[in-house]
Amino acid sequence: MNDLAEATGHVVVPLTLGLLTANPLSGSVYGPEADSSELAGLCESIASQGILVPLVVSPGPQGDYEIISGHRRWMSAQRLGLAEVPCEVRRYPSRLALERAVLEYNRYRRKTFSQMMREADLLERWEKPAARSRRLGNLKGETRPQPPETPADASSSTDRRNSDDRTGRTDFRVAQAIGIGGKDLYRQARAIWVAAGQGDERARHAVRGLDAQTKTIHSAYKDLRRRTRFTTGFRPTPYDVWAFRHDPAYGVPHPGSIPPGIVAHLLHYYTEPAALVVDPMAGGGTTLDVCAAMGRRCLAYDLSPVRDDVHKHDVRIGFPPESSECDLIFCDPPYFSMLSHAYAGGAADVSTDTLAGWLAFLDQFARAAHATLKPGGVLALLLANQTEKDLPRGFGYLDHAFYGLSALLRAGFLPERRVSCPMSGGYQPQQVQKARAEGRLLGLVRDLLIVRKPVLPQPVHPDFSRWTGP
Ligand SMILES: C[S@@+](CC[C@H](N)C(=O)[O-])C[C@H]1O[C@@H](n2cnc3c(N)ncnc32)[C@H](O)[C@@H]1O
Repeated sequence: MNDLAEATGHVVVPLTLGLLTANPLSGSVYGPEADSSELAGLCESIASQGILVPLVVSPGPQGDYEIISGHRRWMSAQRLGLAEVPCEVRRYPSRLALERAVLEYNRYRRKTFSQMMREADLLERWEKPAARSRRLGNLKGETRPQPPETPADASSSTDRRNSDDRTGRTDFRVAQAIGIGGKDLYRQARAIWVAAGQGDERARHAVRGLDAQTKTIHSAYKDLRRRTRFTTGFRPTPYDVWAFRHDPAYGVPHPGSIPPGIVAHLLHYYTEPAALVVDPMAGGGTTLDVCAAMGRRCLAYDLSPVRDDVHKHDVRIGFPPESSECDLIFCDPPYFSMLSHAYAGGAADVSTDTLAGWLAFLDQFARAAHATLKPGGVLALLLANQTEKDLPRGFGYLDHAFYGLSALLRAGFLPERRVSCPMSGGYQPQQVQKARAEGRLLGLVRDLLIVRKPVLPQPVHPDFSRWTGP
Protein backbone atom coordinates (compact mmCIF):
# COMPACT_ATOMS: atom_id res chain seq x y z
CA MET A 1 0.00 0.00 0.00
CA ASN A 2 2.84 2.40 0.84
CA ASP A 3 4.65 1.60 -2.41
CA LEU A 4 1.46 2.51 -4.15
CA ALA A 5 1.49 5.88 -2.41
CA GLU A 6 4.96 6.66 -3.68
CA ALA A 7 4.03 5.67 -7.17
CA THR A 8 0.87 7.71 -7.31
CA GLY A 9 2.26 11.19 -6.54
CA HIS A 10 -0.57 13.44 -5.46
CA VAL A 11 -3.31 10.87 -4.89
CA VAL A 12 -4.58 10.22 -1.40
CA VAL A 13 -3.56 6.94 0.20
CA PRO A 14 -3.79 5.55 3.73
CA LEU A 15 -0.35 5.37 5.44
CA THR A 16 0.48 3.61 8.70
CA LEU A 17 1.30 6.03 11.52
CA GLY A 18 4.70 4.51 12.18
CA LEU A 19 5.89 5.57 8.73
CA LEU A 20 5.24 9.26 9.39
CA THR A 21 7.86 11.60 10.86
CA ALA A 22 7.48 15.16 12.14
CA ASN A 23 8.98 17.97 10.13
CA PRO A 24 11.79 19.60 12.19
CA LEU A 25 11.22 23.05 10.66
CA SER A 26 7.58 23.00 11.67
CA GLY A 27 8.55 22.39 15.30
CA SER A 28 11.17 25.14 15.33
CA VAL A 29 8.91 27.79 13.74
CA TYR A 30 5.53 27.01 15.26
CA GLY A 31 6.66 25.43 18.54
CA PRO A 32 4.69 22.68 20.26
CA GLU A 33 1.95 21.94 17.77
CA ALA A 34 -1.06 22.20 20.05
CA ASP A 35 -1.95 22.50 23.69
CA SER A 36 -3.81 19.61 25.21
CA SER A 37 -7.25 21.28 25.14
CA GLU A 38 -6.84 22.04 21.42
CA LEU A 39 -5.80 18.42 20.75
CA ALA A 40 -8.70 17.12 22.84
CA GLY A 41 -11.15 18.98 20.57
CA LEU A 42 -9.50 17.63 17.44
CA CYS A 43 -9.44 14.08 18.86
CA GLU A 44 -13.16 14.32 19.56
CA SER A 45 -13.86 15.45 16.00
CA ILE A 46 -11.65 12.74 14.46
CA ALA A 47 -13.22 10.07 16.67
CA SER A 48 -16.69 10.97 15.39
CA GLN A 49 -15.99 12.12 11.79
CA GLY A 50 -12.66 10.53 10.90
CA ILE A 51 -9.86 12.58 9.27
CA LEU A 52 -11.69 14.70 6.69
CA VAL A 53 -8.66 16.51 5.23
CA PRO A 54 -5.73 14.24 4.35
CA LEU A 55 -2.25 14.99 5.71
CA VAL A 56 0.35 16.13 3.18
CA VAL A 57 3.57 14.12 3.33
CA SER A 58 6.77 13.81 1.35
CA PRO A 59 8.63 10.50 0.87
CA GLY A 60 11.96 10.32 2.78
CA PRO A 61 15.09 8.31 1.95
CA GLN A 62 14.40 5.48 4.45
CA GLY A 63 10.94 4.59 3.24
CA ASP A 64 9.45 7.01 5.77
CA TYR A 65 7.20 10.02 5.06
CA GLU A 66 7.92 13.51 6.39
CA ILE A 67 4.83 15.49 7.37
CA ILE A 68 4.46 18.76 5.45
CA SER A 69 1.02 19.58 6.76
CA GLY A 70 -1.07 17.83 9.42
CA HIS A 71 1.05 17.54 12.57
CA ARG A 72 -1.97 18.04 14.81
CA ARG A 73 -4.04 15.47 12.95
CA TRP A 74 -1.08 13.04 13.23
CA MET A 75 -0.77 13.63 17.00
CA SER A 76 -4.51 13.17 17.47
CA ALA A 77 -4.44 9.93 15.47
CA GLN A 78 -1.62 8.69 17.73
CA ARG A 79 -3.67 9.57 20.82
CA LEU A 80 -6.70 7.77 19.43
CA GLY A 81 -4.59 4.72 18.57
CA LEU A 82 -5.47 4.80 14.84
CA ALA A 83 -3.47 2.42 12.65
CA GLU A 84 -3.35 4.60 9.54
CA VAL A 85 -4.29 8.06 8.29
CA PRO A 86 -5.17 9.39 4.80
CA CYS A 87 -2.16 11.11 3.23
CA GLU A 88 -1.51 13.03 0.05
CA VAL A 89 2.02 12.17 -1.04
CA ARG A 90 3.95 15.00 -2.68
CA ARG A 91 7.49 15.19 -3.96
CA TYR A 92 9.54 18.38 -3.83
CA PRO A 93 12.49 19.15 -6.11
CA SER A 94 14.71 20.26 -3.20
CA ARG A 95 14.85 20.62 0.57
CA LEU A 96 14.25 24.35 0.17
CA ALA A 97 11.10 23.74 -1.84
CA LEU A 98 9.87 21.32 0.82
CA GLU A 99 10.52 23.82 3.62
CA ARG A 100 8.80 26.62 1.69
CA ALA A 101 5.85 24.31 1.35
CA VAL A 102 5.70 23.83 5.13
CA LEU A 103 5.39 27.60 5.56
CA GLU A 104 2.93 27.89 2.72
CA TYR A 105 0.60 25.30 4.28
CA ASN A 106 0.66 27.37 7.47
CA ARG A 107 -0.03 30.65 5.68
CA TYR A 108 -3.62 30.95 6.83
CA ARG A 109 -3.39 29.47 10.31
CA ARG A 110 -3.73 31.82 13.28
CA LYS A 111 -0.18 32.61 14.32
CA THR A 112 1.41 34.29 17.29
CA PHE A 113 3.81 37.17 16.74
CA SER A 114 6.78 34.90 17.54
CA GLN A 115 5.62 32.28 15.03
CA MET A 116 5.26 34.94 12.33
CA MET A 117 8.69 36.36 13.05
CA ARG A 118 10.32 32.92 13.04
CA GLU A 119 8.72 32.43 9.61
CA ALA A 120 10.13 35.83 8.64
CA ASP A 121 13.63 34.82 9.76
CA LEU A 122 13.48 31.87 7.37
CA LEU A 123 11.96 33.83 4.51
CA GLU A 124 14.60 36.57 4.85
CA ARG A 125 17.31 33.90 4.69
CA TRP A 126 15.74 32.31 1.62
CA GLU A 127 15.14 35.68 -0.03
CA LYS A 128 18.74 36.83 0.37
CA PRO A 129 20.17 35.36 -2.88
CA ALA A 130 17.15 36.59 -4.84
CA ALA A 131 17.42 40.04 -3.27
CA ARG A 132 21.11 40.24 -4.17
CA SER A 133 20.42 39.38 -7.82
CA ARG A 134 17.52 41.85 -7.89
CA ARG A 135 19.84 44.57 -6.59
CA LEU A 136 22.47 43.74 -9.19
CA GLY A 137 19.79 43.63 -11.88
CA ASN A 138 18.53 47.04 -10.82
CA LEU A 139 22.05 48.45 -10.96
CA LYS A 140 22.48 47.10 -14.48
CA GLY A 141 19.00 48.26 -15.49
CA GLU A 142 17.86 44.70 -16.20
CA THR A 143 14.39 43.31 -15.66
CA ARG A 144 14.15 41.54 -12.35
CA PRO A 145 15.17 37.85 -12.27
CA GLN A 146 12.96 35.31 -10.50
CA PRO A 147 14.24 33.90 -7.20
CA PRO A 148 16.06 30.61 -7.70
CA GLU A 149 14.61 27.28 -6.58
CA THR A 150 11.02 28.50 -6.37
CA PRO A 151 8.84 25.38 -6.23
CA ALA A 152 5.74 25.96 -8.27
CA ASP A 153 3.42 24.54 -5.65
CA ALA A 154 4.91 26.32 -2.65
CA SER A 155 5.65 29.97 -3.31
CA SER A 156 4.01 30.81 -6.62
CA SER A 157 1.18 32.69 -4.93
CA THR A 158 3.67 34.98 -3.18
CA ASP A 159 5.61 35.58 -6.37
CA ARG A 160 2.49 36.35 -8.40
CA ARG A 161 1.33 38.89 -5.85
CA ASN A 162 4.76 40.49 -5.76
CA SER A 163 5.14 41.28 -9.42
CA ASP A 164 4.90 45.08 -9.30
CA ASP A 165 7.80 47.43 -8.70
CA ARG A 166 7.45 47.94 -4.98
CA THR A 167 7.51 44.23 -4.34
CA GLY A 168 11.14 43.93 -5.34
CA ARG A 169 11.88 44.75 -1.68
CA THR A 170 12.57 41.80 0.57
CA ASP A 171 10.73 43.39 3.49
CA PHE A 172 7.60 43.87 1.39
CA ARG A 173 7.70 40.30 0.16
CA VAL A 174 8.27 38.90 3.64
CA ALA A 175 5.56 41.12 5.17
CA GLN A 176 3.10 39.82 2.57
CA ALA A 177 4.15 36.22 3.04
CA ILE A 178 3.74 36.18 6.83
CA GLY A 179 0.55 38.24 6.64
CA ILE A 180 1.68 40.99 8.99
CA GLY A 181 0.56 43.94 6.84
CA GLY A 182 2.76 46.45 5.02
CA LYS A 183 6.53 46.70 4.98
CA ASP A 184 6.59 49.58 7.47
CA LEU A 185 4.77 47.56 10.10
CA TYR A 186 7.02 44.63 9.31
CA ARG A 187 10.11 46.80 9.84
CA GLN A 188 8.80 47.82 13.25
CA ALA A 189 8.07 44.19 14.09
CA ARG A 190 11.58 43.20 12.99
CA ALA A 191 13.18 45.93 15.14
CA ILE A 192 11.34 44.56 18.20
CA TRP A 193 12.18 40.95 17.29
CA VAL A 194 15.89 41.70 16.73
CA ALA A 195 16.15 43.67 20.00
CA ALA A 196 14.46 40.80 21.85
CA GLY A 197 16.88 38.34 20.22
CA GLN A 198 19.76 40.47 21.48
CA GLY A 199 18.46 40.05 25.03
CA ASP A 200 16.77 43.46 25.43
CA GLU A 201 14.38 42.73 28.31
CA ARG A 202 11.94 45.46 27.34
CA ALA A 203 11.71 44.03 23.82
CA ARG A 204 11.33 40.49 25.18
CA HIS A 205 8.49 41.71 27.33
CA ALA A 206 6.94 43.36 24.25
CA VAL A 207 7.18 40.05 22.35
CA ARG A 208 5.36 38.28 25.18
CA GLY A 209 2.65 40.98 25.01
CA LEU A 210 2.41 40.66 21.23
CA ASP A 211 2.09 36.88 21.47
CA ALA A 212 -0.69 37.26 24.02
CA GLN A 213 -2.27 39.99 21.86
CA THR A 214 -2.19 42.51 24.72
CA LYS A 215 0.00 44.91 22.76
CA THR A 216 0.16 46.21 19.21
CA ILE A 217 3.31 46.19 17.10
CA HIS A 218 3.11 49.93 16.68
CA SER A 219 2.87 50.72 20.39
CA ALA A 220 5.64 48.25 21.28
CA TYR A 221 7.85 49.84 18.63
CA LYS A 222 7.07 53.33 19.88
CA ASP A 223 8.12 52.28 23.37
CA LEU A 224 11.42 50.96 22.05
CA ARG A 225 12.09 54.10 20.01
CA ARG A 226 11.29 56.45 22.86
CA ARG A 227 14.22 55.04 24.72
CA THR A 228 16.53 57.24 22.71
CA ARG A 229 15.12 60.17 24.73
CA PHE A 230 18.02 60.07 27.17
CA THR A 231 20.71 59.50 24.57
CA THR A 232 19.90 62.12 21.97
CA GLY A 233 18.92 65.66 22.84
CA PHE A 234 18.74 65.05 26.61
CA ARG A 235 18.14 68.39 28.36
CA PRO A 236 18.49 68.02 32.10
CA THR A 237 16.37 70.16 34.34
CA PRO A 238 18.53 72.47 36.45
CA TYR A 239 15.96 72.55 39.31
CA ASP A 240 15.65 70.38 42.39
CA VAL A 241 12.06 69.43 41.57
CA TRP A 242 12.02 66.42 39.26
CA ALA A 243 8.45 66.15 38.07
CA PHE A 244 8.65 63.45 35.43
CA ARG A 245 5.93 61.23 34.12
CA HIS A 246 5.95 57.48 33.83
CA ASP A 247 7.09 56.16 30.50
CA PRO A 248 6.32 52.58 29.46
CA ALA A 249 9.47 52.59 27.32
CA TYR A 250 11.54 52.01 30.46
CA GLY A 251 11.08 49.09 32.81
CA VAL A 252 8.52 46.36 32.42
CA PRO A 253 5.12 46.98 34.01
CA HIS A 254 5.43 46.83 37.81
CA PRO A 255 3.21 48.20 40.57
CA GLY A 256 6.02 50.41 41.94
CA SER A 257 7.64 51.60 38.72
CA ILE A 258 9.01 55.14 38.76
CA PRO A 259 9.40 57.78 36.05
CA PRO A 260 12.67 57.07 34.21
CA GLY A 261 13.53 60.78 34.28
CA ILE A 262 14.45 60.45 37.97
CA VAL A 263 17.12 57.86 37.19
CA ALA A 264 18.26 59.71 34.05
CA HIS A 265 18.88 62.89 36.03
CA LEU A 266 20.75 61.02 38.76
CA LEU A 267 22.99 59.43 36.15
CA HIS A 268 23.49 62.77 34.43
CA TYR A 269 24.45 64.71 37.58
CA TYR A 270 26.26 62.03 39.59
CA THR A 271 27.93 59.52 37.23
CA GLU A 272 30.26 59.36 34.26
CA PRO A 273 29.69 57.12 31.20
CA ALA A 274 30.46 53.43 31.97
CA ALA A 275 30.01 54.01 35.72
CA LEU A 276 28.75 51.03 37.73
CA VAL A 277 25.23 51.58 39.05
CA VAL A 278 23.51 49.21 41.49
CA ASP A 279 19.77 48.97 42.14
CA PRO A 280 19.11 46.48 44.97
CA MET A 281 15.29 46.77 44.71
CA ALA A 282 14.95 46.96 40.97
CA GLY A 283 11.26 46.03 40.51
CA GLY A 284 10.40 46.41 36.81
CA GLY A 285 13.98 47.43 35.96
CA THR A 286 13.59 51.13 35.15
CA THR A 287 17.17 51.71 36.34
CA LEU A 288 18.49 48.93 34.09
CA ASP A 289 16.84 50.36 30.98
CA VAL A 290 17.86 53.96 31.64
CA CYS A 291 21.45 52.85 32.35
CA ALA A 292 21.48 50.95 29.04
CA ALA A 293 20.20 54.03 27.20
CA MET A 294 22.78 56.30 28.85
CA GLY A 295 25.77 53.96 28.63
CA ARG A 296 26.14 53.08 32.32
CA ARG A 297 26.73 49.55 33.61
CA CYS A 298 24.01 48.33 35.92
CA LEU A 299 23.55 45.48 38.38
CA ALA A 300 19.95 45.00 39.40
CA TYR A 301 18.53 42.81 42.18
CA ASP A 302 15.14 42.12 43.69
CA LEU A 303 13.59 39.75 46.18
CA SER A 304 11.10 38.75 43.47
CA PRO A 305 12.64 39.40 40.04
CA VAL A 306 10.19 39.91 37.20
CA ARG A 307 12.74 39.87 34.38
CA ASP A 308 15.85 37.82 33.57
CA ASP A 309 18.39 40.63 33.98
CA VAL A 310 17.22 41.33 37.54
CA HIS A 311 18.94 38.86 39.87
CA LYS A 312 17.25 37.38 42.90
CA HIS A 313 18.74 38.81 46.06
CA ASP A 314 17.51 39.92 49.47
CA VAL A 315 19.20 43.20 50.33
CA ARG A 316 18.51 42.58 54.03
CA ILE A 317 21.60 40.34 53.98
CA GLY A 318 23.70 43.11 52.37
CA PHE A 319 24.90 43.77 48.80
CA PRO A 320 26.28 40.99 46.57
CA PRO A 321 30.12 41.05 46.27
CA GLU A 322 30.08 41.97 42.55
CA SER A 323 28.51 45.33 43.38
CA SER A 324 31.36 46.44 45.64
CA GLU A 325 33.19 49.68 44.72
CA CYS A 326 30.22 50.78 42.60
CA ASP A 327 29.79 54.45 41.68
CA LEU A 328 26.10 54.90 42.46
CA ILE A 329 23.40 53.02 44.33
CA PHE A 330 19.80 53.88 43.54
CA CYS A 331 17.13 52.42 45.77
CA ASP A 332 13.37 52.79 45.61
CA PRO A 333 12.18 50.63 48.51
CA PRO A 334 8.66 49.71 49.48
CA TYR A 335 8.08 50.89 53.02
CA PHE A 336 6.18 50.12 56.04
CA SER A 337 2.82 48.66 54.93
CA MET A 338 2.77 50.59 51.64
CA LEU A 339 1.86 48.38 48.71
CA SER A 340 3.02 45.35 50.68
CA HIS A 341 0.26 43.33 49.04
CA ALA A 342 1.44 44.30 45.55
CA TYR A 343 5.08 43.21 45.57
CA ALA A 344 6.86 39.94 45.74
CA GLY A 345 3.70 37.95 45.18
CA GLY A 346 2.93 38.60 48.87
CA ALA A 347 6.40 37.44 50.02
CA ALA A 348 7.66 38.88 53.29
CA ASP A 349 9.56 41.89 51.95
CA VAL A 350 10.66 44.99 53.87
CA SER A 351 7.19 46.53 53.58
CA THR A 352 5.59 43.73 55.58
CA ASP A 353 7.84 44.30 58.61
CA THR A 354 6.85 46.21 61.76
CA LEU A 355 7.74 49.89 62.07
CA ALA A 356 10.67 48.99 64.33
CA GLY A 357 11.78 46.40 61.75
CA TRP A 358 11.57 48.96 58.95
CA LEU A 359 13.64 51.49 60.90
CA ALA A 360 16.23 48.83 61.72
CA PHE A 361 16.32 47.93 58.03
CA LEU A 362 17.05 51.56 57.09
CA ASP A 363 20.08 51.55 59.39
CA GLN A 364 21.32 48.18 58.17
CA PHE A 365 20.79 49.22 54.53
CA ALA A 366 22.65 52.52 55.01
CA ARG A 367 25.66 50.74 56.55
CA ALA A 368 25.72 48.07 53.81
CA ALA A 369 25.46 50.71 51.04
CA HIS A 370 28.28 52.69 52.66
CA ALA A 371 30.49 49.59 52.71
CA THR A 372 29.66 48.80 49.06
CA LEU A 373 30.14 52.20 47.42
CA LYS A 374 33.56 53.36 46.37
CA PRO A 375 34.83 56.44 48.28
CA GLY A 376 33.19 59.48 46.71
CA GLY A 377 30.31 57.30 45.45
CA VAL A 378 26.70 58.41 45.69
CA LEU A 379 23.59 56.80 47.18
CA ALA A 380 20.13 57.98 46.17
CA LEU A 381 17.19 56.77 48.22
CA LEU A 382 13.65 57.54 47.08
CA LEU A 383 11.18 57.80 49.96
CA ALA A 384 7.63 59.10 50.32
CA ASN A 385 6.19 60.07 53.64
CA GLN A 386 3.06 58.22 54.63
CA THR A 387 -0.24 59.63 55.71
CA GLU A 388 -3.30 57.95 57.19
CA LYS A 389 -4.33 57.01 53.68
CA ASP A 390 -1.99 54.04 53.53
CA LEU A 391 -1.12 53.46 57.18
CA PRO A 392 -2.56 50.93 59.59
CA ARG A 393 -4.87 52.32 62.28
CA GLY A 394 -3.08 54.23 64.97
CA PHE A 395 -0.40 55.76 62.77
CA GLY A 396 -0.99 59.42 61.85
CA TYR A 397 2.03 60.33 59.77
CA LEU A 398 5.42 58.75 59.12
CA ASP A 399 8.23 61.01 57.95
CA HIS A 400 10.24 58.38 56.10
CA ALA A 401 12.49 60.96 54.46
CA PHE A 402 13.55 62.10 57.94
CA TYR A 403 14.12 58.52 59.15
CA GLY A 404 16.00 57.71 55.96
CA LEU A 405 18.27 60.73 56.05
CA SER A 406 18.97 60.14 59.72
CA ALA A 407 20.02 56.54 59.01
CA LEU A 408 22.21 57.63 56.10
CA LEU A 409 24.01 60.27 58.18
CA ARG A 410 24.48 57.79 61.03
CA ALA A 411 26.13 55.39 58.59
CA GLY A 412 28.70 58.08 57.68
CA PHE A 413 27.26 59.60 54.47
CA LEU A 414 27.38 63.33 53.77
CA PRO A 415 24.24 65.07 52.46
CA GLU A 416 24.52 66.03 48.80
CA ARG A 417 21.02 67.15 47.69
CA ARG A 418 17.43 66.56 48.58
CA VAL A 419 15.23 66.59 45.47
CA SER A 420 11.43 66.66 45.41
CA CYS A 421 9.87 64.16 43.03
CA PRO A 422 6.12 64.80 42.70
CA MET A 423 4.02 61.67 42.23
CA SER A 424 2.65 61.36 38.72
CA GLY A 425 -0.70 59.95 39.92
CA GLY A 426 -3.08 62.11 41.95
CA TYR A 427 -5.83 61.27 44.43
CA GLN A 428 -9.38 60.17 43.77
CA PRO A 429 -12.03 62.88 44.34
CA GLN A 430 -13.46 60.88 47.27
CA GLN A 431 -10.05 60.79 48.94
CA VAL A 432 -9.69 64.56 48.51
CA GLN A 433 -13.17 65.16 49.92
CA LYS A 434 -12.49 62.92 52.90
CA ALA A 435 -9.15 64.61 53.60
CA ARG A 436 -10.84 68.02 53.51
CA ALA A 437 -13.58 66.89 55.83
CA GLU A 438 -11.06 65.42 58.26
CA GLY A 439 -8.63 68.33 58.00
CA ARG A 440 -5.79 66.13 56.73
CA LEU A 441 -3.01 66.95 54.28
CA LEU A 442 -2.46 64.49 51.45
CA GLY A 443 1.11 63.94 50.29
CA LEU A 444 2.00 64.70 46.67
CA VAL A 445 5.78 64.44 46.66
CA ARG A 446 8.51 61.96 47.31
CA ASP A 447 11.96 62.89 48.52
CA LEU A 448 15.03 61.74 46.69
CA LEU A 449 17.76 61.73 49.32
CA ILE A 450 21.14 62.03 47.63
CA VAL A 451 24.15 61.44 49.87
CA ARG A 452 27.83 60.88 49.22
CA LYS A 453 30.32 58.54 50.83
CA PRO A 454 33.19 60.80 51.86
CA VAL A 455 36.55 60.13 50.27
CA LEU A 456 38.16 60.31 53.72
CA PRO A 457 36.29 58.85 56.73
CA GLN A 458 34.35 61.52 58.62
CA PRO A 459 33.18 61.50 62.23
CA VAL A 460 29.51 60.57 62.54
CA HIS A 461 27.31 63.66 62.72
CA PRO A 462 26.89 64.34 66.47
CA ASP A 463 23.19 65.17 66.25
CA PHE A 464 22.39 61.77 64.88
CA SER A 465 24.78 59.54 66.79
CA ARG A 466 22.34 59.22 69.66
CA TRP A 467 19.15 59.32 67.61
CA THR A 468 17.09 56.22 68.17
CA GLY A 469 13.99 56.85 66.12
CA PRO A 470 10.50 57.92 67.19
C1 LIG B 1 8.99 50.26 44.67
S1 LIG B 1 9.46 48.75 43.96
C2 LIG B 1 10.77 49.23 42.90
C3 LIG B 1 10.25 49.70 41.57
C4 LIG B 1 11.34 50.12 40.60
N1 LIG B 1 12.00 51.33 40.99
C5 LIG B 1 10.75 50.29 39.19
O1 LIG B 1 10.87 51.34 38.60
O2 LIG B 1 10.11 49.33 38.70
C6 LIG B 1 10.29 47.98 45.29
C7 LIG B 1 10.83 46.59 45.01
O3 LIG B 1 11.60 46.15 46.16
C8 LIG B 1 11.52 44.74 46.19
N2 LIG B 1 11.93 44.29 47.52
C9 LIG B 1 11.23 44.33 48.69
N3 LIG B 1 11.95 43.84 49.70
C10 LIG B 1 13.15 43.48 49.17
C11 LIG B 1 14.33 42.91 49.73
N4 LIG B 1 14.40 42.61 51.01
N5 LIG B 1 15.40 42.70 48.89
C12 LIG B 1 15.31 43.01 47.59
N6 LIG B 1 14.21 43.54 47.00
C13 LIG B 1 13.15 43.77 47.81
C14 LIG B 1 10.06 44.46 45.85
O4 LIG B 1 9.92 43.12 45.36
C15 LIG B 1 9.80 45.51 44.77
O5 LIG B 1 9.99 44.97 43.48
